[in-house]
Amino acid sequence: MADGIIVIGAGGFGRETLDVIAAINAANGEPLWDVIGVIDDAPAEIQVERLHDRGIRMLGDAEGNRKLLDGAHYVVGIGSPAVRARIAEKAEAWGARPAVLVHPAAVVGTRVRISPGAVVCGGAQISTNVRLGRHAHVNPGAIIGHDSVLEDFVSVNPGAIVSGEVTVGARTLIGAGATVLQGLSVGEGATVGASACVTKDVAAGSVMVGVPARVVGAAS
Ligand SMILES: CC(C)(COP(=O)(O)OP(=O)(O)OC[C@H]1O[C@@H](n2cnc3c(N)ncnc32)[C@H](O)[C@@H]1OP(=O)(O)O)[C@@H](O)C(=O)NCCC(=O)NCCS
Repeated sequence: MADGIIVIGAGGFGRETLDVIAAINAANGEPLWDVIGVIDDAPAEIQVERLHDRGIRMLGDAEGNRKLLDGAHYVVGIGSPAVRARIAEKAEAWGARPAVLVHPAAVVGTRVRISPGAVVCGGAQISTNVRLGRHAHVNPGAIIGHDSVLEDFVSVNPGAIVSGEVTVGARTLIGAGATVLQGLSVGEGATVGASACVTKDVAAGSVMVGVPARVVGAAS
């Protein structure tokens, strides 16, 4: 029998997460997951309509669903690492259980460890001996090189490349199409802008853009 699952986040990545669930169910023959609905504290009207169109129930805000979350499988489908961390910590304090979601069209190598709450989208490629921390997101077309580590709540946006032997600190965002060169370390809470090429270690909390990437500020 399928397990119930709640998706937190009615926005774009929330609906992409629903697609990952649908693909897992389709690939498995019989459904592994039964979507109970979507929680969002302040969904935009257009997002509510988009969910309604695909027959997904809006459950309301997180606080009002504390009882439902207690013991339920859930995943946070929100792109911002900081927001995702805040919500996941709350949901887990209320007894919710993070699921692991890997799209069947992702390529996942040997000796890959994927922690609870992680979402790997279709077209992502994860090489050998990679570790994905709790609630890490690997977006469509992103590539994670061999022996790399994405700590908790990292987001690797579409088409970004994290080369081999890289460590990405907790709550860091790697922007769409960015590249982090091999062996580097990206500190906690950093932001690598879209299309940047990171050629040196990145200090915690810094915002980097350009080729080669330079510091342009501190993450808020
Ligand atoms: C780097 C980033 C975090 C900066 O965000 P921000 O602080 O809101 O920056 P702003 O949009 O106010 O832009 C500030 C300046 O930086 C420039 N800039 C923004 N992003 C840039 C990038 N990725 N590379 C180079 N320059 C960039 C802007 O052109 C602007 O320049 P100006 O001051 O000369 O006009 C953001 O633009 C980014 O790249 N985020 C990742 C986005 C992503 O991956 N999207 C895909 C989602 S699926």
